[in-house]
Amino acid sequence: MASISMKNIVKQYGDGFPAVNDVSIDIADGEFMILVGPSGCGKSTLLRMIVGLEDITSGDMMIGDRRVNDLAPRDRNLAMVFQNYALYPHLTVYENIAFPLRLAGASDDEIDRKVKGASETLELDEHLQRKPGNLSGGQRQRVAMGRAIVRDADAFLFDEPLSNLDAKLRGQMRTEIARLQKRLGITTVYVTHDQTEAMTLGDRVAVLKRGILQQLATPRELYENPGNLFVAGFIGSPPMNFLPVTVEGNTAKLPFGSVELPPERAERAQGYDLLLAGIRPEYFDDASAREGARGSTFRATVEVVEWLGNETYAYIPYDAPPEVEQQLRQLERDLDGEALHTQLVAALSGSSRIREGEEAEIWVDASRIHLFDPETGRNLTVDAEHAGTIPEMQTTT
Ligand SMILES: Nc1ncnc2c1ncn2[C@@H]1O[C@H](COP(=O)(O)OP(=O)(O)OP(=O)(O)O)[C@@H](O)[C@H]1O
Ligand SMILES: [Mg+2]
Repeated sequence: MASISMKNIVKQYGDGFPAVNDVSIDIADGEFMILVGPSGCGKSTLLRMIVGLEDITSGDMMIGDRRVNDLAPRDRNLAMVFQNYALYPHLTVYENIAFPLRLAGASDDEIDRKVKGASETLELDEHLQRKPGNLSGGQRQRVAMGRAIVRDADAFLFDEPLSNLDAKLRGQMRTEIARLQKRLGITTVYVTHDQTEAMTLGDRVAVLKRGILQQLATPRELYENPGNLFVAGFIGSPPMNFLPVTVEGNTAKLPFGSVELPPERAERAQGYDLLLAGIRPEYFDDASAREGARGSTFRATVEVVEWLGNETYAYIPYDAPPEVEQQLRQLERDLDGEALHTQLVAALSGSSRIREGEEAEIWVDASRIHLFDPETGRNLTVDAEHAGTIPEMQTTT
């Protein structure tokens, strides 16, 4: 096992396009690191540079204390687990797992010991004599991992391994991969464009946008302290609401009414006319469910109500000035289509009796509102101590 360290990694393809642009990420020995971002942000390119399938234009790729930029893939001792599993259909599970050992000319004894060891860990004992074609998607995934395990690789690399599976199996496999990774304690880099996978699997998550690292942090840090509009909009489902806001003193004027901000947050808004307020759906509730709780309330007409049992989504349209509208539209494009209409999504208690078309009293926890600079997209209220690494902020301080 080993740590992986990327220092100022750049990848320019033939046409000069920087697919990966000055990315630095340190992955600790045994850590589960996620690379996430919308399509085309450079995740696969970065992963392929770690394994050696893609040349590195500049920067240092370190595995343990070795610089591997010029090492062939087979000399890097990493195991890539491909999306399509790449199993041999005519070979048994046993022989599929044994394959890399046979290639390396290992003895039958050694092969048997390692295959049995892997199959025990992966709970594949009863399937060893079966063919991959007769296995479920999850079992096939485990065979592919078995093949990686017997090689004693320093790290596992996954590129969207679950994207072909249906939602239920994807959920099961997610849990399985998380469990195996913990048990094996092997350094893992996992590429996905799915924020749920990123949040649930990763020890830490690197969020990329157009080849540039936006933030590198734990799932909780990303969720609670996104460094900019992009990360804020990408992490979380339904996404964070972005509303035009002006701040005077400690009072924030939102499209629905005014709320009182904590002074330390309001202070960060000084010198700005118009800002974007970031409010997660669950910072709202039906006011009747929060009587006596700290926070502000406002009245608004609820256009659509979706009752999910445990919670209720209330959709409340609002008007935004053109400059805000434009910024939100750009953000929508950056996020690859996640629709950010000028409507508020509020996640209310499941017990809420608010009905469609009704003017309702809504509660909001103003202490958790983030304020974003609409020009740069920066989160002005970020708690830098609990936000992991935000490269954009480091270069300017
Ligand atoms: N062989 C290539 N030649 C030129 N440009 C390429 C090549 N491969 C990828 N790119 C470009 O590099 C950028 C990053 O591509 P990459 O495949 O790393 O994205 P990704 O984040 O994995 O996206 P996806 O989620 O769609 O798989 C894209 O803009 C892509 O067009
Ligand atoms: Mg990709």
